[in-house]
Amino acid sequence: MGPLDGRNAYLLLNNEDREVMLMAKVIAHRGGAKWVPENTLAAFRWAAEAGCRWIELDISLLGDGTPVIIHDETLDRTTDAHGPLDQISVADLGTIDAGRWFAPAFAGQRIPTLAQVIDLCFELGLGANLELKPNADNGAALVEATARVLEEKHALNGPWLFSSFHHETLALMAQRLPDIPRGLLYDGIEDKWREKAQARGAKSLHLDQSLIDEKQIPNYRAAGLEVYTYTLNDPKRAAELFAAGLSGVFTDDPLAFEAAL
Ligand code: G3P
Ligand code: MG
Repeated sequence: MGPLDGRNAYLLLNNEDREVMLMAKVIAHRGGAKWVPENTLAAFRWAAEAGCRWIELDISLLGDGTPVIIHDETLDRTTDAHGPLDQISVADLGTIDAGRWFAPAFAGQRIPTLAQVIDLCFELGLGANLELKPNADNGAALVEATARVLEEKHALNGPWLFSSFHHETLALMAQRLPDIPRGLLYDGIEDKWREKAQARGAKSLHLDQSLIDEKQIPNYRAAGLEVYTYTLNDPKRAAELFAAGLSGVFTDDPLAFEAAL
């Protein structure tokens, strides 16, 4: 199946799913960080092969304004290079290894650009939670660069959901691409979650699994919001939360959730 076929097949499939929920029940966090080097193309391919239909990934900006997929503001933890991300440009990516730190078999993996990942999602029929990770002052630039990639890829109708801990950045994205759904990321929920979700036009809450109060889940759902939790690798705990109305989990270990996949 070529990329275009994959894209068409996926969009059909996803339209049906959208009536049920925004994402899937089991979402591969950073591609499935227990098994593969996080936020790499190899990880996202692995997630699709493991049976996931949605992935989560972190979008950050390089110094030249290119949106790329990496969690940290520095290269140190997940590559063989060092230093802040905003000191490198897209031309440097070919010399930085983002797989070997995890296992020798993944040597040669690169920090992917957002554009590469959008292509891969269409090829594999994956939906993606695009988490916006601005640093202190580049939220507006991150929103603009991300929106431009989606426009250039003719991907505005794709299976995406934006989220961010930085709710102001999410508000900017709501103005820029209002039709792509958004979710509010929280480490600790705030009292005014309902008003905030309304003001931001958010369709979901993404809550820390160690802080989520399952008694509150029915309230969130009654307010018309879907509820996801990160990063949950324990299927038993997930079953309790699903029973309370949870919509889905971000997990580093999708294989632990094989039955749900
Ligand atoms: O989007 C869910 C989760 O990824 C948020 O936390 O730090 O892993 O990006 P973090
Ligand atoms: Mg994330």
